[in-house]
Amino acid sequence: MSTSPARSTWSSRWAFILVTIGSSVGLGNIWKFPYMAGSQGGSAFVLVYLLCVLLVGLPLLMAEIMIGRRGRGNPVTAMLNTAEETGNSAWWCVLGWVGMLGALLILSFYSVVSGWIMDYLYQALTGLQVETAENARQNFDTLLASPWRLGLWHTLFLAMTVGVIARGVVAGIEVANKILMPALFLILILLTLWGWWAGDMHTAWHFMFDFKAEVLTPSVILAAVGHAFFSLSLGMGAIMAYGSYLDRNSSIANTSLWVAMAGTLVGILAGLAIFSLTFRYGLAPSEGPGLILQALPLAFAHMPGGQVFASLFFLLVLFAAWTSAISLVEPFVAWLTERMGIHRYAAAWGTGLIVWLLGVGVCLSFNLWSAYKLFDLDLFGVLDFLTSRIMMPLSGMAIAIYAGWKMGLPLVREEMRLEAPMFSLWFWVLRYIVPTGIVLVFCHVLMPEMSK
Ligand code: PHE
Repeated sequence: MSTSPARSTWSSRWAFILVTIGSSVGLGNIWKFPYMAGSQGGSAFVLVYLLCVLLVGLPLLMAEIMIGRRGRGNPVTAMLNTAEETGNSAWWCVLGWVGMLGALLILSFYSVVSGWIMDYLYQALTGLQVETAENARQNFDTLLASPWRLGLWHTLFLAMTVGVIARGVVAGIEVANKILMPALFLILILLTLWGWWAGDMHTAWHFMFDFKAEVLTPSVILAAVGHAFFSLSLGMGAIMAYGSYLDRNSSIANTSLWVAMAGTLVGILAGLAIFSLTFRYGLAPSEGPGLILQALPLAFAHMPGGQVFASLFFLLVLFAAWTSAISLVEPFVAWLTERMGIHRYAAAWGTGLIVWLLGVGVCLSFNLWSAYKLFDLDLFGVLDFLTSRIMMPLSGMAIAIYAGWKMGLPLVREEMRLEAPMFSLWFWVLRYIVPTGIVLVFCHVLMPEMSK
């Protein structure tokens, strides 16, 4: 299928769709979306998030894939190549840098949270029973209080991730994705059905979808915008790096639509399942990052065959997290190998070491270092805020400006190969809606802060 002899491509369009879904569907949809929605006013967050996915996320996803495919390389190279081709300043490659740095920052806490999932998988396999909400909370708090347990799982998860990257991305992840992604969907559907049967789906539904204007504050909007970026893997070079392996003939628009739909669907299913169980077992939706790890074990404990189901569930979530984590390291490792000529093994393990060190800091921020705060946030909170709410939206805006205003219509049209009305609609949204939307949200959030 390859049209460029120098660069391998995915074995088919479906393979690309699957790995891109693999990057976007991850802890963001299953772990982060429910707890964010729970602590940011429920439906207000959910509805703005859906709007952002449609109006900002989808157009940007298409733009990022396009730049990656045209630029044929890691994010920095892709930006340099396309900037040169279109007569733009080489400075645009800064965007690639910001993305790669952001991706590594995300990975440092992503790996720790994936470690939580591994710990729960281990617990499920060894038959842990959580009977009450109090038990469930305690169980989670005990995990957070132990730097060794957190550190061990974090190390293991990162080693798994770097191990795949060291072997090369095309060979490493395509095959596994084909089986495990559909399996994850299936198990989420079963879990939602269980939530419907045994939980309080009615309250969950209203909590997620009743529009309540009074909870719609600027910071909820920024959180929702940020999460749209996080869940679609945008602005961090991950999608650009994957796009660079996409063959010339695949439709970027179709692919993006699949990816956006899959991620959103997974988030909504996970949200419905988790909230119906949260309300049923008397947990608070605003429980925070531990929400799913408290609500689900409780539900599994009351489910026939709960232990098998729990093990399967955590295994698949772990897999989803793994494929996302791989896409977080790929851009930087691709840069080290392609531009610096470093061997892939050394590049992958070296990068892993840096991320590991930062991740150890994150592990400690839950216990020994929990007193150290910046703006009332621990290290985990700072990294999350910095990446999701600042770096991703800003770099997304820059990508929109670059693709919408700088690359030039003829080239963009040639690369996108979209029918006329759809192309015009996309291009218009990319040029006007995406940048203005992001600027407005930023002004709204930052102005009141600054005038304090
Ligand atoms: N989208 C991934 C998730 O939802 C996280 C991610 C962010 C991956 C940015 C790559 C780049 O879990």
